[in-house]
Amino acid sequence: MKPASSDNGGAVSTGAFPPGPTEMGEGIWQNYLFYRRFFKDPLSHVTRWMETYGDVWHFKIGDSHNYAVANPDVIYELFVRQAKRFIKGPAYTSRKSGLARFMGDGLVTSNGDFWKRQRRLVAPAFHAIRVHAYADTMVDYTLKRLEAWNDGALVDVDEEMMELTLTIVARTLFDADASSTVSQVKKAVAVVQKANNTASILPHWLPTPLRLRSWRANRALDKIVYGFIDQRRATGEDRGDLLSMLLLSEDEDGERMSDLQARDEAVTLFLAGHETTANTLNWTWWLLAQHPQVEAKLHAELDAALGGRRPKLEDLRKLPYTDTVIKEALRLMPAVWSVSRTAAKDTEVRGYPMPKGTTAQVMIYLLHRHPDHWTQPKAFIPERWLQPEIEQLHKYTYLPFAGGPRVCIGNSFATMEANLLLATIAQRYRLRLIDGIEIKPAALITMFPRDGLPMRLERRPAVTRTESQEVDSVPFSMLE
Ligand code: HEM
Repeated sequence: MKPASSDNGGAVSTGAFPPGPTEMGEGIWQNYLFYRRFFKDPLSHVTRWMETYGDVWHFKIGDSHNYAVANPDVIYELFVRQAKRFIKGPAYTSRKSGLARFMGDGLVTSNGDFWKRQRRLVAPAFHAIRVHAYADTMVDYTLKRLEAWNDGALVDVDEEMMELTLTIVARTLFDADASSTVSQVKKAVAVVQKANNTASILPHWLPTPLRLRSWRANRALDKIVYGFIDQRRATGEDRGDLLSMLLLSEDEDGERMSDLQARDEAVTLFLAGHETTANTLNWTWWLLAQHPQVEAKLHAELDAALGGRRPKLEDLRKLPYTDTVIKEALRLMPAVWSVSRTAAKDTEVRGYPMPKGTTAQVMIYLLHRHPDHWTQPKAFIPERWLQPEIEQLHKYTYLPFAGGPRVCIGNSFATMEANLLLATIAQRYRLRLIDGIEIKPAALITMFPRDGLPMRLERRPAVTRTESQEVDSVPFSMLE
């Protein structure tokens, strides 16, 4: 779908809405029945709609206008040029039906000056120098986890990756041991995912089974995070980590953050900081298992550059292919497959009218597979990231971490972590799919393997060289 006209700087539009599906129906009951069907398989629905209507389409839910967008120019307007006119809408901020039920007023779910202040406060924990200091911890935790792995064993890789990334985020950002919380957090994450993607026409206070589970999940998250906060308050110590920043920093009026606000930020970072990276690794293992040539090339790079020793931060420069494997997994299977923005005032985006309250769903999954921008869009080809043509790509065609002022704050943390964990594990193990078990993606808030990721471990022969071969170093974006 091509834009009707160029941007008019946000003036109210007289243009018409583009076409789109009407399967949602008109009344509440019809909407409800539609969404019950939709949430069973959102990816097939949106893929079909893009094939039918192009990369910008319109649909109505009740009286509200909605768009689905996989067009880089339109996304640039939403994320950057008109970022001030688009805010996080009720799917994030509503205490009745949005993510705020769990994350409160944290970074993901807040807006305006409040968000800006919080982002400024949290940002130092994600500066390059701080993030780089986490590298050894990430590898330590991975090696420790691998001590329990055995050749030939069947493991649920999803559980392994979740536990690993959860314990890493707790140690690096909160200097806490989260190993005993794993099963509670896992249950809470499942509830958060479902609660935001379940159609309901019942009043919000009615204690349905899912709502009871949501309240329970919130109590579990509170207990874990207030545990971190209480422990730190008890010592009064400034350990210079994110938690100390949250508890000790003062605003312009000398006010400290309340416990509730510290809780909201901590829960946000605890949840946003592990599940996404775990799923990125899940999809990477799944793709590698189906592409033995890519896997062999990855192993060759790791063996040549590391010679069997554990990877360090500086080694990432010698592992350009490893980085392309992660990049390509994030393209084909972006853990955050869709995000939304809501018009805070009447505006127009590239000729598309967006009255106040219009919500635009940015379809990252479809953008990354857009046939106008990617050759062989559905194929897993890490090499594409090493071709000169990749430089010509529209910058807003690849957005695993979104973009503009609300770009993922953990972008570098996650990139470094995914590279280090992939390198450490792939040095030692191949992960094989099990015959007869099909892995299906579920797409709720994040995209994850619907029924877990059972795989068979195959120990790789040890690399005997003690010294790695001379390998050319290339610039690694994280280290520049
Ligand atoms: C591969 C892993 C990750 C992916 C794919 C990812 C993706 C994203 C995306 C797409 C957004 C934008 C959300 C929106 O606009 O609705 C986002 C925001 C955010 N992410 Fe990540 N993320 C990852 C890892 C992390 C990590 C490791 C952390 C923290 C340790 C983190 C913390 C956040 C926070 C706090 C926000 C909200 C930022 C703001 O609005 O100011 N993420 N992430």
